[in-house]
Amino acid sequence: MIFCHLRIHALIKTHTGSHGYMKLQDKTLLITGGTSGIGYALVKKLAATNKAIIVIARNPVHLEKLKSQFPNVHTYKCSLACKMDVEKTLSEIINAHPDISVVINNAGIQETPTFLDKDFNFDSIENEITVNLTAPIWISALMLGPLLNLKTPAAIVNVTSGLGLYPKKNSAVYCATKAGLRNFTKSFRYQLEDTNIKVFEAIMPLVDTPMTQGRGKGKISPEHAAGSIIDGIENDDEEIYVGKAKLIPLVSRLSPTLMAKIMKAG
Ligand SMILES: NC(=O)c1ccc[n+]([C@@H]2O[C@H](COP(=O)([O-])OP(=O)(O)OC[C@H]3O[C@@H](n4cnc5c(N)ncnc54)[C@H](OP(=O)(O)O)[C@@H]3O)[C@@H](O)[C@H]2O)c1
Repeated sequence: MIFCHLRIHALIKTHTGSHGYMKLQDKTLLITGGTSGIGYALVKKLAATNKAIIVIARNPVHLEKLKSQFPNVHTYKCSLACKMDVEKTLSEIINAHPDISVVINNAGIQETPTFLDKDFNFDSIENEITVNLTAPIWISALMLGPLLNLKTPAAIVNVTSGLGLYPKKNSAVYCATKAGLRNFTKSFRYQLEDTNIKVFEAIMPLVDTPMTQGRGKGKISPEHAAGSIIDGIENDDEEIYVGKAKLIPLVSRLSPTLMAKIMKAG
């Protein structure tokens, strides 16, 4: 009986997947952290075929450069670590671009020391949690009304990591923020299941960006990561496992202990 139900569910999923949820074309999108790494690769891929891309980041030089590169990119300097800044910026963005239908919570930071390291910084704990976890939740809450008002398909995409499922030894706070964002994304998806808003999670493997500079092996390019996120949204995959992250559910089914050991090493 359960198998029968699962097979029917799989068939329905394949069916809706083949039609796709939304084509990322002629849309207005909000992307946090669009000046670097995966966010920048998303902007490069999406700018040509979409109406407008709104980008939030802090570095004014990078924001200016991005704006001069793409005429339909609108930039907003904002620190996601600051609640007042986020509320003020989101209010400006919503007024100027009420047609935003896709929000990609991509910006993130990663502190790498362990709590035992001499350079471990106590103040980094709150900052990392705010940027990686609280800010995407703030933005999801602030964008909820405008997205519901559209009454046409809309999407919120939260960028997490394989480390949200299985932590590594370093970067304990980072791992906790990604696990938190993963669980928030699931619960928020349940809350919005009868609305026009789909909630996606993009689960990243190691990607070759400034965040991972000088560490890690077998990284995929940011362009590969961005392409997979776009395909995942268009194919209606609620959980978009990118590159090697696709192995996580498979290996977990065979041996969660082995998976945990692999991920522990980072
Ligand atoms: N790279 C990987 O291997 C990997 C793996 C798993 C998950 N991820 C996730 O993928 C996402 C993108 O990572 P990435 O590797 O592309 O990072 P990245 O190249 O370091 O870029 C991070 C972006 O976030 C922005 N940002 C950082 N702090 C901010 C703040 N306080 N306020 C506003 N914007 C801020 C940065 O701009 P400013 O500095 O100008 O603010 C930059 O545009 C993150 O959520 C990350 O956790 C990455």
